Amino acid sequence: MIVVPGTSSKLLAERLVENTGLRLVVPEIVRFPDGECYVRIPDNLDDEEVMIIQNTYPDEKIIELLLLQDAVREFNIENLTVVIPYFGYARQDKKFNVGEPVSVRAIIKGIQRNVDYILTIDIHDEDAMKWFDTHAMNISGMTSIGNFLKENLDVDIVIAPDDGALPEARIVANTIGCEYDGFEKKRISAMEVQMETKELDIKNKTTVIVDDIISTGGTILETAKLLMDMGAKDVYAACTHGLFVNNALDKLKKICKNIFSTDTIETSASTISVWKNIADVILNKN
Ligand code: R5P
Repeated sequence: MIVVPGTSSKLLAERLVENTGLRLVVPEIVRFPDGECYVRIPDNLDDEEVMIIQNTYPDEKIIELLLLQDAVREFNIENLTVVIPYFGYARQDKKFNVGEPVSVRAIIKGIQRNVDYILTIDIHDEDAMKWFDTHAMNISGMTSIGNFLKENLDVDIVIAPDDGALPEARIVANTIGCEYDGFEKKRISAMEVQMETKELDIKNKTTVIVDDIISTGGTILETAKLLMDMGAKDVYAACTHGLFVNNALDKLKKICKNIFSTDTIETSASTISVWKNIADVILNKN
């Protein structure tokens, strides 16, 4: 299988091929003077199975993905798998107000054409998978987060900042072999959240807050403050998708001892890799 990374996923693609022996073909991706994207595959892909790895975030990566799919299909390939490590637009998974789109459905409809198999990683809500007409599967990167934490920290308890993150906290805690619990969160606005207090035995414990996404960092910040007020020894944060908008990483470093994210989005915090989660599925697919 040939792995063709878009510009969002070079590090992850490199880690995947280094560990599996798959072959990497890095496409040329540049911009025309007017800002439009130019893509070229420098190798012959005839008779090959091909995997494109690319996020649907930020918006320009969607265009790259569409052009890569078209370029790859110009060859006489065996089949095409598209891995979307971070599926942007998945949080608008319903019409919250009249007149809005179901954004995740719109993106899925656009990218699934001519693709044989789609793999997403910790998509915001698995329910979105119902919009795919092609073979599609969502996998969790939480086992990789759990294994990393097990090897590098002495974690006492994993904390979910809200109900939605409880299944993720459970996977991480079970992988480590420690306890887990969670808070409830009320979102006031895109930038502001309010945590509901809860009786938890946190005193002198090393705690790790786990979530699928860290965007503005508001959720983690408020949870970390609560845990410190409750007497936690140390607070760490871990997530699959580290968007870290508006200097979130710097803000979080003031309260969290460290912040770990995976390489679905490549930042200075991407210490954990999901290459194994992808390999486990792709190499056992046939
Ligand atoms: C929301 O339900 C997600 O799971 C995350 O909790 C959310 O996206 C985090 O956003 P922020 O970092 O802006 O609080």
